[in-house]
Amino acid sequence: MTSHTYLNELFSLDGTVAVVTGGSSGIGRSVAGALARSGASVVVVARKEAGLRATVDELTADGCRAAWVNADLGTRAAVREAADRAAGVFGEPDILVNCAGVNLRPPMGELDDAVWDTTMAVNLEAPYLLGQRFGPGMAERGFGRIIHITSQQAHRAFVQSGAYGVSKGALESLARSQAEAWSPYGVTCNTLVPGFVMTPLNARLSSDPEKVAALAARTMTGRNGLAEDFAGAAVFLASRASAYVTGQSLFVDGGLSVH
Ligand SMILES: NC(=O)c1ccc[n+]([C@@H]2O[C@H](COP(=O)([O-])OP(=O)(O)OC[C@H]3O[C@@H](n4cnc5c(N)ncnc54)[C@H](OP(=O)(O)O)[C@@H]3O)[C@@H](O)[C@H]2O)c1
Repeated sequence: MTSHTYLNELFSLDGTVAVVTGGSSGIGRSVAGALARSGASVVVVARKEAGLRATVDELTADGCRAAWVNADLGTRAAVREAADRAAGVFGEPDILVNCAGVNLRPPMGELDDAVWDTTMAVNLEAPYLLGQRFGPGMAERGFGRIIHITSQQAHRAFVQSGAYGVSKGALESLARSQAEAWSPYGVTCNTLVPGFVMTPLNARLSSDPEKVAALAARTMTGRNGLAEDFAGAAVFLASRASAYVTGQSLFVDGGLSVH
């Protein structure tokens, strides 16, 4: 057996369908690209058409199968509609990546209902609803992979965690509940936990060189994260290779959380 055949057996996503929310920017765009280049037909879901179009154009130019669905995942009705439209492109997904997220973190005392509601709707309810929509089908077909993107704040308070930390902590619990329900049927559910990653989500913090350097120094690798750092971990969790890994949180943070 050649190394190529062996790696293919472990990691190839040929013939699979993936839905990646937040797949038009940052970590989600990197993950969508990694899954598509590994053979999956990928549907990216987000609000703004420009980013969606640019992502899909890049992937199709690379010979991948990719498409986009524009939707605001901030209401239940829109999430359900987006799920139907996403499944309508290449068929019901084998892989669901919940990466769309908002990062609204006013000081705790100033946290109002609107911030709480938006944070819970996009960061927690949308992943839950998409899981309810796609998880049972995956279980019925005997294969599925659900991957959520959480945060350091799922594990500890860190720079005004507020509602954001609550949503990410609950998302890790959701992964465990989903794993308990569907792992017997070949559907694994895990989370990827970033550290500080230089993406548009962090534009404010990224523009402060002193803070960026201080955060880099807290890692073990001596640098902050890049969206590309998530490609390998995402392919692993989406592939057959991770069949016995479920209900887990995989930290992709340069050692930040254990330093
Ligand atoms: N960057 C970090 O340091 C870091 C650290 C920990 C965790 N994370 C998590 O990683 C995930 C990705 O973040 P990122 O840093 O890659 O940010 P990003 O580059 O800003 O990407 C966020 C993505 O989510 C989409 N999105 C946001 N709100 C949406 C909504 N209401 N409906 C549909 N799509 C929506 C955005 O597209 P549209 O704006 O077009 O909708 C975009 O595609 C998030 O869940 C975030 O919490 C990031």
